[in-house]
Amino acid sequence: MPLPKILYQCQSCGFTSPKWLGKCPDCGAWNSFVEEVRALRDTKLRKQETAEPVALSEISHSTGSRHSTEISEFDRTLGGGVVLGSVVLIGGDPGIGKSTLLLQALKGLIKLGKVLYVSGEESPEQIKIRADRLKIQSRDIILLPETSLEGIISVAQEINPKAIVIDSIQTIFSLELSSSPGSVSQIRECATKLMFFAKKYGIPLFLIGHVTKEGAIAGPRVLEHIVDTVLYFEGDKGALFRILRTVKNRFGPTNEIGVFEMTEAGLKEVDNPSQLFLSEMPVKAPGSVVSACLEGTRPLLVEIQALVSTSSFGVPRRTALGVDYNRVNLLIAVLDKRIGMHLGNMDIFVNVVGGLKIDEPAIDMAIIAAVASSFKNAPIEAGTFVFGEIGLSGELRAISQAEIRIKEAAKLGLKRGIIPSNNAKNLKEPGVEVIGVKNVEEALEILFF
Ligand code: TYD
Ligand code: MG
Repeated sequence: MPLPKILYQCQSCGFTSPKWLGKCPDCGAWNSFVEEVRALRDTKLRKQETAEPVALSEISHSTGSRHSTEISEFDRTLGGGVVLGSVVLIGGDPGIGKSTLLLQALKGLIKLGKVLYVSGEESPEQIKIRADRLKIQSRDIILLPETSLEGIISVAQEINPKAIVIDSIQTIFSLELSSSPGSVSQIRECATKLMFFAKKYGIPLFLIGHVTKEGAIAGPRVLEHIVDTVLYFEGDKGALFRILRTVKNRFGPTNEIGVFEMTEAGLKEVDNPSQLFLSEMPVKAPGSVVSACLEGTRPLLVEIQALVSTSSFGVPRRTALGVDYNRVNLLIAVLDKRIGMHLGNMDIFVNVVGGLKIDEPAIDMAIIAAVASSFKNAPIEAGTFVFGEIGLSGELRAISQAEIRIKEAAKLGLKRGIIPSNNAKNLKEPGVEVIGVKNVEEALEILFF
């Protein structure tokens, strides 16, 4: 039986169905099905389109194929520079600075030749105003206000650019499909065609992607599978700094972060984020402690804060910002049961300063220390840092790469580290007193004598 020409497709995950459905059976989204016409493909394989098989030993691997964007924080998230022929997807809230970042990156890439900036959202005049703010003046950055895929590819073939930015992939549409721009089939088709083009000519391609209200890139799973690298631009619009995080990378480590500051003249790199995150740390304030976490390959010192106050309602409030809510509840239960700290009728708020999100168990000990400090109303001695994973019986478990965390703490002038005893073995760092502890009880005894 021939397949029907009209299909209904879920706009959040790409699931297709021959009839309309109210709820997607795959991802559970409601009212997400949109009618789409199936594109008919020419399935006959042409001779010149088949690839040649190659022996593994004969593939040459050149390390010189990476190029710097001259923004070292951006290079770091890409795994050490732009790889020719790679496709990078950058997602983030509107106004976070995606267009700004890529315009600045293109400036660094003009050393390769002409670069193309395709904008489906802004007029060339608007981009010019931004470029003036960024003090970018170049004959080699070509602007193209175009939204049709076929138009973009034909221009790109003509001017032969060395890098392409598509701002944004949701505004681009292919004339071959009848569905509207931004629908899953358009996004998939356009991204795939652009990717083939980029791979064929060895051009790095940057796709800007909008995010949905839930924070995922619109048309998410389909796009994330197609591209080589997925970066998310995070941070509150009001906050001082922005964080670019690698979620997927075929050419380097994931979870790597780059830290930027939005200034009058565009995004500025932050060379020493630990210093920035600790710069406003209060002195002798109860409920505040420093922890050393790891983002990708980079150690980062952060301040964890907690506020414990008597609840005026029957059900006490628990709020966690930047850390996992369930993890915080678990740690509160450990304090209650193992230490006998009665937190049952207390409102507890935990916050990571600077809008950072941390999902590493290494900060367990810091959450415990901050909550205990606020509860006892006793400040933790300045220059102290803590880290370590906490188990349900209150034991402190070793974590990975303790050495580089301690080195970072030493670099910032911290004097005393309270860490899991298994990590403390054979660990020496000049200027830092490393104290290994076995469980929460011991740790709190040292922190609050
Ligand atoms: P933009 O790059 O347009 O964000 P996106 O493409 O992610 O939607 O810029 C976002 C914000 O940054 C905008 O509100 C203006 C501000 N901004 C500065 O503060 N300084 C600058 O130099 C520039 C170019 C923008
Ligand atoms: Mg933009």
